[in-house]
Amino acid sequence: MSNNHTGSDRANSNSTDGHHGRTRWVMGNWKMNPLRKEAIQLADALATGLSKQTAQPLCQLAVFPVALHTLEIETILHESPIELGCQDVSVHRGLGASTGELSAELLKDAGAQWVLVGHSERRSQQGESEALLSAKLKAALESGLNAVLCVGETLSEREAGRAEAVVAEQLTAQLVALADRFDAQRVVVAYEPVWAIGTGKSASPEDAQAMHAFIRQLLEKHRADLKTVSVLYGGSVKPDNAGLLASCPDIDGALVGGASLKAADFLAIARAFSG
Ligand code: 13P
Repeated sequence: MSNNHTGSDRANSNSTDGHHGRTRWVMGNWKMNPLRKEAIQLADALATGLSKQTAQPLCQLAVFPVALHTLEIETILHESPIELGCQDVSVHRGLGASTGELSAELLKDAGAQWVLVGHSERRSQQGESEALLSAKLKAALESGLNAVLCVGETLSEREAGRAEAVVAEQLTAQLVALADRFDAQRVVVAYEPVWAIGTGKSASPEDAQAMHAFIRQLLEKHRADLKTVSVLYGGSVKPDNAGLLASCPDIDGALVGGASLKAADFLAIARAFSG
C-alpha cells in the first residue's frame, strides 16, 4: 500500500533536494467540503492526474477530507502516493464512551496517517486552547498518527506588531508540552496567518519567508534535530502565487484550502513546490 511511506522513504525521495534535508509537502485541507459525490470525483481526479504526471517527480502530497469520507477516499487513493489525513482528533484514546468523538485509533483504522492540530478555524470557532491542542497532539503522536501543527497570527495581532510573539507563544506552548517525546519526521508546522486564510490575500513571499525563518530558528533552538521539521505556508495559496512562495528558502511547502478543491489547481501548486 503506497499510503505507508516512512520517514526514510521521504528522506530518500527527491522531494528533499535543495531544502537541507527537509521534506517538501503540499497538503490539501478540504475543510467542511464538498458533498460525498464531489469528494469522490475530486479524489478520482487527483489519482488520475497523478498517474499522468510523468515529466517531473512531485513533492510529497497529502489531503485532509471530511472525516466521514475518509474510508471512501482512502480506497480511491490507496494506490496513489497521496497520503491521507483528518482535520481533527479527539483527546480521548482508543475506543469507549465518548459520544461523537473520533479517536486517533479510529482515524488510523480508517486509513489516516496525518491529523491537523491547531487550525485557526478550530481555535476561533471551537475555542480550542493550547492545553487542549497539546492533549490532541499527544493523542495523535502516541497513537502513531503524524501531526501538522498550525500556527498564525490574526490581522490585529500583526498590526499591533505582535505577529512573531504570537507565533512563538503558540509554537513554544506545544514544543514544551510535548516534552521532546516526538520524532522530527512525524511533525510538520504550518504557518497560516489568519488574515490570509480564505481571503484571496496571501502573505507576501517576503513576509512569509521572514516568519518561516523565525519559526525555523525557534525549532532549532528548542532541539537541534528539529531543523529538519518541514514548515509549510498556508493562506490563499493558488497556482499563480505558488511559484514565488516556493522559491523562498525557508518555505518547504503549502497547506492549501480553497485551491485544493480543484484537482488541477492542487496539482499545479504541487508542481510549483517540486523539483
Ligand atoms: P485557503 O487556501 O482557502 O486560504 O485556506 C488555507 C487554510 O486554512 C488551509 O488550512
